[in-house]
Amino acid sequence: MQGIRDRVLVTGGAGFIGSHLCDRLIEAGHEVICVDNFYSSDKTNIQHLLGNPRFELIRHDVTFPLYLEVDRIYHLACPASPIHYQRDPVQTTKTAVHGSINMLGLAKRTGARILLASTSEVYGDPTVHPQTEDYWGNVNPIGPRACYDEGKRAAETLFFDYRRQHQLDIKVVRIFNTYGPRMHPQDGRVVSNFIVSALTGKPLTIYGDGSQTRSFCYVDDLVNGLMKMMESGDDVQGPINLGNPGEFTIAELAREVIAAVGEDPGIDYFPLPQDDPMQRQPDITRAREILGWEPKVPLADGLRPTIDQLRGRVAEAAQGR
Ligand SMILES: NC(=O)c1ccc[n+]([C@@H]2O[C@H](COP(=O)([O-])OP(=O)(O)OC[C@H]3O[C@@H](n4cnc5c(N)ncnc54)[C@H](O)[C@@H]3O)[C@@H](O)[C@H]2O)c1
Repeated sequence: MQGIRDRVLVTGGAGFIGSHLCDRLIEAGHEVICVDNFYSSDKTNIQHLLGNPRFELIRHDVTFPLYLEVDRIYHLACPASPIHYQRDPVQTTKTAVHGSINMLGLAKRTGARILLASTSEVYGDPTVHPQTEDYWGNVNPIGPRACYDEGKRAAETLFFDYRRQHQLDIKVVRIFNTYGPRMHPQDGRVVSNFIVSALTGKPLTIYGDGSQTRSFCYVDDLVNGLMKMMESGDDVQGPINLGNPGEFTIAELAREVIAAVGEDPGIDYFPLPQDDPMQRQPDITRAREILGWEPKVPLADGLRPTIDQLRGRVAEAAQGR
């Protein structure tokens, strides 16, 4: 919808990815309604938008129905890091399932197009490498990560059933590890963990021997992908993987962070947590072919602004702000 002003709802809009998406939608001239209950965020990420006449913030828990008039819904509301989603696993499943039902209900009533921010975690500990979208996954349904993994799988099911049953205009993307400024400094995710450790002079923590691999997508690239998916043709529903196929071992990431921060506090090794996947790498053929999207920002370039922003947060925390 280039050039047309839409009323766009971003659930989870105060979070890490959601706040960058709100910025980009405002820049593109849209009206943005950000809905968030601040379960894993606060107003910091969207403070700069609060005075903008095209930006509106609503404190609301998506597990309860919401009545608004909107053209587009980006449904991101859900705690995303294990520390956050395991704090209240029942609420996590409720957010994934009831939250999706409520937002799909809103899309049904308004005729809005709706995009689900699903996750690579739907692949669980994959037996196929790299992961293509037609791989059904290897998920433990009763483990400590299940509230998130199975919650998102159920959310995907709901999206496709609302499509089949009610002809909703749905889009589903599976996001792989994303990093960038405004990550929560204490979210326990590997990139922010390593950076905060290096900035505070504490040894970096590696679970296992560091040979497990991850791919890291810079948030600006990811947001481009989300917006391209939202404006893709009517025949495109997904799921489509969005992530950076460049694969790094955790040990390599540790070395990159130490080099970029310029401090080497050493590394401590701990046993691997339960159900931690050994390999994770997106196959983004569909995103390339269908959306004309691929990530552009190399890890070393994305780490710099991420470190700068976290340096600020760490300094504020040290001053008790
Ligand atoms: N960051 C990643 O690497 C990654 C990877 C895969 C998928 N995702 C998905 O992208 C989305 C955004 O992730 P993020 O990294 O920005 O996480 P985040 O925790 O920073 O943002 C999630 C936001 O949702 C809000 N929220 C949680 N429960 C809610 C509820 N019941 N009602 C309203 N708001 C609620 C939180 O307060 C937070 O602001 C999530 O759906 C996540 O599953 C993220």
